[in-house]
Amino acid sequence: MENKSTILLEKTIQGHHLILRAPKPSDAVHVAEYWFGPASAHLLAFTDVTAFGTKEEVLAQTEKFFASISQQGPWSTLVMDVDGRPTGNVLINGLVPEEEALVHVHIWDPTLRRMGIASLLARDVFAYFLDAFKLKRLILQVQTENTPVIRLMESLGLQSEGTYFGKAAPICKEGNYKRFVIPRSQ
Ligand SMILES: CC(C)(COP(=O)(O)OP(=O)(O)OC[C@H]1O[C@@H](n2cnc3c(N)ncnc32)[C@H](O)[C@@H]1OP(=O)(O)O)[C@@H](O)C(=O)NCCC(=O)NCCS
Repeated sequence: MENKSTILLEKTIQGHHLILRAPKPSDAVHVAEYWFGPASAHLLAFTDVTAFGTKEEVLAQTEKFFASISQQGPWSTLVMDVDGRPTGNVLINGLVPEEEALVHVHIWDPTLRRMGIASLLARDVFAYFLDAFKLKRLILQVQTENTPVIRLMESLGLQSEGTYFGKAAPICKEGNYKRFVIPRSQ
């Protein structure tokens, strides 16, 4: 049973119980499995996750990071549980205090994609990061081929600022990216 004080959101979707909560060290194994397994293959084509080390090193770093996050928040990573099972995360990084941060959304289990989970959570979770970290905007940069996340942004009424060639983050390879800005008023 999850501690209520670490739960940000609780919803139901297609009969499934969904919560978004603070991360725990035991979630790290799912992050490592995701980044070193087939469910992130489309991202690995342009992200060099090995820059962070081996799977074991990523697991150890992530465990340490999740253990360091205060249970009181603010939480820069939120983990999704579907029917009690850790299933994905939404996170910010590249934070420029009181200005902006990069935001990322991952549903680790492909069988739970395209059933509306991200659409159900996105507005509330973006608002949380903007408020909790007192940011003016969130930036989402995505490879032009990543249709699901582009559709997600568009379905929230957000228009891409355009396509550019470059790196979306230091560990990314050069490629064509779309850049979305999620302003504080969104
Ligand atoms: C991107 C991602 C988080 C979207 O989450 P999701 O819960 O599957 O998205 P939803 O079911 O809420 O769908 C959102 C919109 O995208 C569309 N969509 C979702 N998957 C799609 C697909 N494979 N092809 C085309 N459109 C798709 C949906 O139809 C919906 O649009 P609509 O409201 O106009 O109908 C999920 O696909 C994912 O985890 N992908 C892997 C990680 C990743 O690439 N993250 C992006 C990097 S930050």
